[in-house]
Amino acid sequence: MLGARGGWQALRRCPSSIFSSSSSSFSSSSSSLPREQRVPAARLRVRQALGAREAAGEVQVQGWVRSVRSQKEVLFLHINDGSSLESLQVVADPSMDSRDLTFGSAVEVRGKLVKSPHKMQNVELKAESIRVVGPCDALSFPLKAKERHPLEYVRQFPHLRCRSNALGALLRIRSEATAAIHSFFQDNGYVHIHTPIITSNDCEGAGELFQIETSNETQESAEKNRFFNVPAFLTVSGQLHLEVMAGAFTHVFTFGPTFRAENSQSRRHLAEFYMVEAELSFTESLQDITQVMEDLFKTATSAVFSRCPRDVELFHKYIAPAQKGRLEQMLKNKFVTISYNEAVEILKQASQTFAFKPEWGCDLQREHEKYLVQHCGEVPVFVINYPYDLKPFYMRDNEDGPQRTVAAVDLLVPGIGELCGGSLREERLPFLESRLQRLGLSDAYQWYLDLRKFGSVPHGGFGMGFERYLQYILGVDNIKDVIPFPRFPHSCLL
Ligand code: 4AD
Ligand code: MG
Repeated sequence: MLGARGGWQALRRCPSSIFSSSSSSFSSSSSSLPREQRVPAARLRVRQALGAREAAGEVQVQGWVRSVRSQKEVLFLHINDGSSLESLQVVADPSMDSRDLTFGSAVEVRGKLVKSPHKMQNVELKAESIRVVGPCDALSFPLKAKERHPLEYVRQFPHLRCRSNALGALLRIRSEATAAIHSFFQDNGYVHIHTPIITSNDCEGAGELFQIETSNETQESAEKNRFFNVPAFLTVSGQLHLEVMAGAFTHVFTFGPTFRAENSQSRRHLAEFYMVEAELSFTESLQDITQVMEDLFKTATSAVFSRCPRDVELFHKYIAPAQKGRLEQMLKNKFVTISYNEAVEILKQASQTFAFKPEWGCDLQREHEKYLVQHCGEVPVFVINYPYDLKPFYMRDNEDGPQRTVAAVDLLVPGIGELCGGSLREERLPFLESRLQRLGLSDAYQWYLDLRKFGSVPHGGFGMGFERYLQYILGVDNIKDVIPFPRFPHSCLL
């Protein structure tokens, strides 16, 4: 009978006689029945209730009040429990109204799900009792009924903003996107690996590091008294650990927190963010890697759009109105690929003047990335084969003459810039040995060289910033609006 999405636990059944219709009086948080004697009714989440196609028996729904409208004959409430963007309409006798029944208060409503006379909803809950579980002082509560608060405003309240429509939708999308990414890899035969968060490898300068020490390690005692015998850092990337595992499982992925200590307040940088990383053995071409990036992006995005259409719609309607059409188009077309050499030529021929003059051998700046994406028609663009000297030691040498390049790839997307970075890895022992020697890193990376001594195979992989991914598909300008908790309290204000 209930049409809610499958898999949810069936309702907790109970003898409905306990809830005689005569008990349809308002009961406050100090209910007359002690808590342990109140037998639960069939408990429904709001999403389940909204999915019901026909009237159900006696049910109990819990949530937070999103609106209260008391009329002479009838009291209307909308309650939301985070299971969907839409709230459940409750229809009650005005005698059930009380001072405590305000916007933001937590309530438990018992009653019957009945067919709704309104076109917009199948059912509504005809209340037999309403209990205020946790009152809310609507005057001092920073969220207000019926107001569409801007993301900048709710960012000031990291502990309360998840109760706003936009952040509620965002966090459900984030949860679905996480599941979709895991499914993509599991469905394609990848093994999920938990790579360490505390590590002594710095993935060769992928970013600035946060160093770890115990709270009693003062400067003076640090040398003698270290918890770790070697310097330890919060990971900047799980890549090197994944390479270890790709040497046994062929295809592996990880999806965990990564940390970068650049002191950047930009709209696309975080100190703590989630990275999706994959590593594939027996892979000789960069195209195999870019194909996985593209497939991952398209599969996960299509899954998110179909699993939470209403949540996604909120962003595409109110926050980034042009994004929906652009993304639908993008999902249908193949991503563009250009080489770094071509990219530099395009930039040199541009009529626009850049703050950083484009030159072969220099890193692409944000302004360059933006121009390249624009030049290619505001679509995702893979830039491949970067200068050898720009990239970390593990990238595979293309051995292509004086303008020497490595088999590296960055995926640039409209509005964001770099979404993914990856490469073929140098699997040839002599190449890797000489590069590490020149960098003075041979001792630290003996274990990594071992991987090239014992059954080395051509391999490669990539990392995708999860928050930048969410920013892109939803059209969110500031990366702080796609994480559950922006840094508390006000350093996050821009
Ligand atoms: O390009 P990055 O630094 O690549 C690596 O760390 C590789 N070791 C990954 C690999 O090959 N397994 O980071 C990968 C992605 C970037 O493209 C970007 O989307 C994201 O991680 N990223 C950040 N996102 C938010 N805040 C930051 N500070 C980020 N730094 C990188
Ligand atoms: Mg990068």
